[in-house]
Amino acid sequence: MRNPTPQDKFTFGLWTVGWQARDPFGDATREALDPVRTVSELAQRGAYGVTFHDDDLIPFGSSPSDRAAHIARFKKALDENNMKVPMATTNLFSHPVFKDGAFTSNNRDIRRYAIRKVMTNIELAVELGAHTYVCWGGREGAETDIGKDPVVALERMREAFNILGQFVIDKGYNIKFAMEPKPNEPRGDIFLPTIGHALAFINSLEHPELVGLNPEVGHEQMAGLNFVHGIGQALFHKKLFHIDLNGQHGPKYDQDLVFGHGDLKSAFFLVDLLDRYNYDGPKHFDYKPMRTESDEGVWASATANMRTFIILQERARAFRADPRTKAALEKSGVNELLQPTAASGESWKDIANESFDVEAAGKRGYHYEELDQLALEYLIGVH
Ligand code: GCO
Ligand code: MN
Ligand code: MN
Repeated sequence: MRNPTPQDKFTFGLWTVGWQARDPFGDATREALDPVRTVSELAQRGAYGVTFHDDDLIPFGSSPSDRAAHIARFKKALDENNMKVPMATTNLFSHPVFKDGAFTSNNRDIRRYAIRKVMTNIELAVELGAHTYVCWGGREGAETDIGKDPVVALERMREAFNILGQFVIDKGYNIKFAMEPKPNEPRGDIFLPTIGHALAFINSLEHPELVGLNPEVGHEQMAGLNFVHGIGQALFHKKLFHIDLNGQHGPKYDQDLVFGHGDLKSAFFLVDLLDRYNYDGPKHFDYKPMRTESDEGVWASATANMRTFIILQERARAFRADPRTKAALEKSGVNELLQPTAASGESWKDIANESFDVEAAGKRGYHYEELDQLALEYLIGVH
């Protein structure tokens, strides 16, 4: 396989390789990573850029002069390594002030503070050239249904996005929001838990055109959903603004494994879908190197994400190009779905008066087993 290059647009959050592996049961197993080192390590491995939460780059509570110093050395590292920042986001979940939510906190001052924190970091994101601003509402939710009125909470959530939309319009910023759904963790239940919920919510906004999605593989799979179908719907609505790639083994805690290290077959069909629909945004890895790993394992895992993507892309393209695949697709009738149900000029009247051999159609076999096995054999490298 070929090596990753910046043309692949692979990006990583500072918090991914920088995760010190603290979990609810144990302390950190790794030293803190300097963002400057992260930029150069990732650049050497062929990445295109990095992304960050405000607090990943500028420790919470930094003085204005410390803030400026952190930004200056980060910018220098980006320039020296020709690395981009296509996306940034806000930490609205670590500090205890957000323990009951940010945009949907029951406390109005906290809601206003959260919006302010986002606006401050959007200015930095724009300065660094980002065009996507991710909003993951990790603490927007509840453990008990008496703790928050879900209808009113969505009203407050809508208000926050309307205010932020007006902010970027008034400032003339060329940046769009990408909401990241997640069903639970850290809250017992998080509002807007899936792609579908978020899509419906976006339609309620004053400027829906400014808001799209940043779906994450593991988050939909935690909810037992088909990620390929979720991305299909995001593409259908033209709302796939960004994507968080990682791995997950079904409904359990958020594993944030390396891309492909969970449901590999789903990862194969995902890459195939992104490729066929020419997704040209960043391929953002939002994963956590296993807690067992030392520094060496961290960088091995970073490379693993990119290699897996490229390998799957090569496999998917070979699969699609093979005449056997084309023949099997033809035999199964997959491409018949491309044909509109009503021909142009037809109405329900043409459909109402048609005769059709139902019994014959019911006897047809679709040959998906054959297709599926062919895909699997490509995936595991037999062909
Ligand atoms: C998770 C989330 C987060 C967000 C990130 C952006 O794994 O729970 O993916 O990693 O993507 O914090 O705000
Ligand atoms: Mn996750
Ligand atoms: Mn994510």
